Amino acid sequence: MGRPGTGKLTMAFVERVFSGVQPTGNLHLGNYLGAIVNFVKLQETHNCLYCVVDMHAITQPVEVWGGPAELARNTREVTAAFIAAGIDPKKHIVFNQSQVLEHAELAWIFNCVARIGWLNRMTQFKDKAGKDREAASVGLYDYPVLMAADILVYRATHVPVGEDQKQHLELSRDIAQKFNNDFAESIRGHGFDDGLFFPQPEPLITGPATRVMSLRDGTKKMSKSDASDNSRINLTDDADTIAQKIRKAKTDPEPLPSEEKGLETRPEADNLVGIYAALSGRTKADLLGEFGGGQFSAFKNSLVELCVTKLSPIASEMKRLVADPGYVDQVLFDGAARARVIAAETMQATRDIVGFVSKR
Ligand code: AMP
Ligand code: TRP
Repeated sequence: MGRPGTGKLTMAFVERVFSGVQPTGNLHLGNYLGAIVNFVKLQETHNCLYCVVDMHAITQPVEVWGGPAELARNTREVTAAFIAAGIDPKKHIVFNQSQVLEHAELAWIFNCVARIGWLNRMTQFKDKAGKDREAASVGLYDYPVLMAADILVYRATHVPVGEDQKQHLELSRDIAQKFNNDFAESIRGHGFDDGLFFPQPEPLITGPATRVMSLRDGTKKMSKSDASDNSRINLTDDADTIAQKIRKAKTDPEPLPSEEKGLETRPEADNLVGIYAALSGRTKADLLGEFGGGQFSAFKNSLVELCVTKLSPIASEMKRLVADPGYVDQVLFDGAARARVIAAETMQATRDIVGFVSKR
């Protein structure tokens, strides 16, 4: 048998990076250090797709994502943040999820591959749904399946994310593997002699700040949805706001330790030193060599300066871009057109493998 449906798809997986960020407002330092900084770096070594996942945003109650006008505004703002941070939308692909219909189409097939038991184990669903699980949307429950489709519709091999997405990535791997098993014979019949149609996407959870914590409570992660704006540094904060938030950041009465071991039982101190390390490219040990034994105030002053130096150029570039929605929309439109070409190939082969009859 020939290779009907496989089109230009090759058997060997091309290394490809995919990641997504939800347009749910308040992009913060955790998003930047845990995800976006790595997106920028990976451009040098890989073909990358960076997606504003608007279909994921609407899985939460409308009051959380803010309604249509807010969703559109936040979609443009995340796009602006990508570009301002150094992602090149000409060399790589930047787009919003809802413009490429294949994500939803593959998610349906994956709904029939994933098991309810797998989804029942997802801790993020439990956190987001809260006590009244029955009132959560079906979409929130199904969120990780759509995420697997996002990645695998491009047969992406590497996925840079923060620590909180690890479990979702494991689910994506399980879905890829079960699809390959369930349809093994058909996959071989369509020319994939090794029986592997979807790759097992590898999480890239790297860098010194894969989990940035709240400035108000070192045991909670920094989050877009925390009621206290003082808990996070937003990418759009101006210099005065950054300074205020860092000066107010919770610490303990002890001076900074001189060795890393001394940070183990001090989550707030550990978090601030971690942020400093990530932004400066220095190690925690090196920083404690300089600031250990001293009071927090001197360390915080230096951290304010570092944050402002690193973040203000991004904030002002974001402001400039957001003021030009025509340009931002064009980036998303062009990106979606290029993404669609790859997604359409995967989908046609997937339909053939599953046995959906279609005109070719
Ligand atoms: P989200 O805002 O949930 O769409 O997250 C976008 C990206 O930022 C994902 O890769 C997350 O893992 C990452 N991220 C979100 N919050 C944090 C945090 N506090 N520390 C590190 N990474 C984070
Ligand atoms: N769930 C991710 C988050 O909240 C966002 C996301 C959606 C994503 N689809 C993805 C991340 C695919 C990586 C790959 O952060």
